[in-house]
Amino acid sequence: MSDLSSFILKGHICHTPEAGQLEIRENAFAVCEDGTCRGVFDAVPEAYRGLEIIDCTGQLVIPGLADLHTHAPQFAYRGTAMDCELMEWLEQYAFPEESRYADLKYAERAYEIVVRSLRQGATTRAVIFGTIHTDATLILMDLLEESGIISFAGKVNMDRNAPEALRETAEQSEAETVRFIRESLGRGYRRTRPILTPRFAPSCTEALLAALGRIRQEYGLPVQSHLSENPEEIETVSRLFPEAAFYGDVYDRAGLFGREGNTVMAHCVYSLPEETERMLANGVWIAHCPASNMNIASGIAPVRRYLEKGLRVGLGTDVAGGHSESMFQAVTDAIQVSKLHWRLADREAKPLTFPEALYLATKGGGSFFGKVGSFEEGYEFDAVVLDDHRIAGARPLPAAERLERAFYDRLDRQGITMKFAGGERIL
Ligand code: GUN
Ligand code: FE
Repeated sequence: MSDLSSFILKGHICHTPEAGQLEIRENAFAVCEDGTCRGVFDAVPEAYRGLEIIDCTGQLVIPGLADLHTHAPQFAYRGTAMDCELMEWLEQYAFPEESRYADLKYAERAYEIVVRSLRQGATTRAVIFGTIHTDATLILMDLLEESGIISFAGKVNMDRNAPEALRETAEQSEAETVRFIRESLGRGYRRTRPILTPRFAPSCTEALLAALGRIRQEYGLPVQSHLSENPEEIETVSRLFPEAAFYGDVYDRAGLFGREGNTVMAHCVYSLPEETERMLANGVWIAHCPASNMNIASGIAPVRRYLEKGLRVGLGTDVAGGHSESMFQAVTDAIQVSKLHWRLADREAKPLTFPEALYLATKGGGSFFGKVGSFEEGYEFDAVVLDDHRIAGARPLPAAERLERAFYDRLDRQGITMKFAGGERIL
């Protein structure tokens, strides 16, 4: 990783300052000063004449992509295990794999592969589930820190409805969470922060959720979990928490649902109006995970409705419900599922456009990290440079079309020439 944090990047600078508005400045200069973007200019402004120019003329420069929801331990079985729905899938595949992370040697080997893949792709920010194992999750965080990716990672909490090897008592889970927080904060990371991670309501008792709510208050941490993903899951929650007004209310009653601190909830395929109202009021982010919605046949989250309502929405890969860590794939999947949703379920909900989906993957999800996901003045400088010259074509395309094609063609596999996160070059 280079320490260079003031420079100018020259290329076709592409970003979406507003949802749906793709702005492209051809062979323009994006100025990064001390890790912060100072804007995009057609010529280098006087004040920045001394800075090094990184010349990517003709290449496509986009903001780094923010993966708002993924499971690092599940990367080991990505692209397999897609023959059942959520609750059975957890029992059959997710829990057995996650049990392996008690073995720190396995954890290290597996997490090295995860982090290498993330680093090589277009993701610059990620919000990540580990397992219940504190020490394995700390290994993951050490590797993330070293990679230059900026992330939140969490030790998972479960004290019921999980196999014995993955189940703690509420007291153990609370104590281990405090140890996890203290150790991770004590390691002096610059780019890696802990996040509270109750797996989902069915695997947590009210006592555990309440304990996490107290920890959240004390340490001021963000929260990640799952919400309203699958019909059987939702049914289970209403059985386990009869006093809750709706699924998300379970988290809210424990102080784990937005308000003072950031919270991101994956999925929200079946959120009721009361639930989306509460998310709006509490400022909860939704991580839309289209590949996972398809693979474990959960359904399709009504993202257009959420955007119309003014909710905060980003995209997640949800590996291994999602089969790929690629946020390029998440962008095109989001567009494609929105078309099916429009055709089959809700003719009033217009499909997402490419600029809208790009917005979700950059500024939408980036906002969970602060001013992230755009080249506007004052944003943290995250960028991915794409060289698409190997994509054959009979005629030259305008930059906007080249960019769209780059996503559908999965140019994040071979075509990334540079990547910057928080002003530092990490690839
Ligand atoms: N709900 C609770 N745990 C999980 C998980 O690991 N993946 C998905 N997709 N949903 C969940
Ligand atoms: Fe998930």
